[in-house]
Amino acid sequence: MTNPPPSSAHCLAVILAAGEGTRMKSARPKVLHEVAGRSMLAHVLAGVAQAGAGRLAVVVGPDRADVSAEVRRLAPDAQVFEQRERLGTAHAALCARPALAQGCDELLVVFADTPLIRPDTYAALRAALREGASVAVLGFEARDPTGYGRLLREGAELVAIREHKDASAAERAVTLCNAGVMAIAGAQALALLERVGNDNAQKEFYLTDVVALARAAGDKAVVVLAPEDEVMGVNDRVQLASAEAAMQTRLREAAMRAGVTMIAPQTVFLSWDTQLARDVLIEPHVFFGPGVSVGEGAVIHASSHLAQASVGPGATIGPFARLRPGARIGASAKIGNFVEIKAADIGEGAAVSHLTYLGDATVGARANIGAGTITCNYDGFDKFRTHIGAGAFIGSNSALVAPVTIGDGAYVGSGSVVTQSVAPDSLAIARGRQVEKPGWAQDFRRSHEGKPRQRP
Ligand code: UD1
Ligand code: CA
Repeated sequence: MTNPPPSSAHCLAVILAAGEGTRMKSARPKVLHEVAGRSMLAHVLAGVAQAGAGRLAVVVGPDRADVSAEVRRLAPDAQVFEQRERLGTAHAALCARPALAQGCDELLVVFADTPLIRPDTYAALRAALREGASVAVLGFEARDPTGYGRLLREGAELVAIREHKDASAAERAVTLCNAGVMAIAGAQALALLERVGNDNAQKEFYLTDVVALARAAGDKAVVVLAPEDEVMGVNDRVQLASAEAAMQTRLREAAMRAGVTMIAPQTVFLSWDTQLARDVLIEPHVFFGPGVSVGEGAVIHASSHLAQASVGPGATIGPFARLRPGARIGASAKIGNFVEIKAADIGEGAAVSHLTYLGDATVGARANIGAGTITCNYDGFDKFRTHIGAGAFIGSNSALVAPVTIGDGAYVGSGSVVTQSVAPDSLAIARGRQVEKPGWAQDFRRSHEGKPRQRP
């Protein structure tokens, strides 16, 4: 990370999450919509914490128990404040007044709907304060600046931020825009915020007015630049999809730079926490939900879906495999096509090659599970476990009715419905015995000779 902040600098981050998000057309608050498998709010909380913010204060809208609950889950030490009326970004920041009044060396004010900002970028804003600025604003060159606050500069210094609705024609021609994130020297922060008025086109208390107020007090304000893709805000589902695409590009590139091969990276979808070791090969059209790790040299064949699962080194998965929560695939194991694994440990070198469901199970090392094997783990009320020993061989099309244990090295004959445990090294056959009647078919046909055949 660039410019790691000195641990002595005490940084408070105030996260504005009171957005109504009406343009999302959703029962869910905007900031709880997900990018790469976690909420936008979670991305922002993690980002500022990684940038060294030791205290977090989140400002939520009225009656947003769901947002408060997400904050408590993610950052139990964060303080949560409610903004009852939406009177502007400075007003929102001041809703965290009790946190501000406790004092800090540096204040970061950030929006919860900009999930792509990197920890390094937050850290760069903090660093600008340490270089003498009282206010540091994150800016970007906008392809289309409409709607954004314009950053008005004189030389290297920032003079003011003009909201689009308040800007003159000349000011609207400026393409350097405010991303919304700001760092303010802790000593001045509360006093500056309190001086913000609402004499503007929207009759709102603008956080952005802090710049002109700091300048008027003889303090310095500066701009820290970021690429437009990074500061992208999310107001509707189209922008949510754009943010997702940008995040996916970032995650894929990081994986490839760390030694992962992707044949068609644009068809592979990762989660924020996907862990892929060196020399993992990922074929096209693979989806990683949250909580997946894949060990060195493993291969994930095309069109597989994994979530909350781990894959050991050298294992192969798919094509068309599904690893559900709690699937733990051992080193060099093979999970083949049309196989679903849930809450099951598959031992080292075991093979589950085709058309199988294993749920609530343990499979020992080097066991072989034949095509069409099903663990019957659910009776409509409770779940039960199946244990398959090391080196066991389950014949094709077997149903293992849990709870049941197949001993080490045991065989189960194909087509068995196994309801009782099988001792190690035994053979269990649990199906009708084959009966053969020699010549029966010929006799049957003869007895029907000359009779008209009904069409099937
Ligand atoms: C804001 C900035 C603008 C910048 C743009 C970047 C101000 C005054 N303007 O404008 O300079 O270019 O972001 O996207 O800051 N919020 C509250 N309570 C409020 C008002 C807003 O919590 O009373 C939150 C919103 O949920 C949102 C954020 O603050 O997360 C920004 O508010 P929004 O109204 O979207 O500001 P913009 O007009 O986009
Ligand atoms: Ca906005």
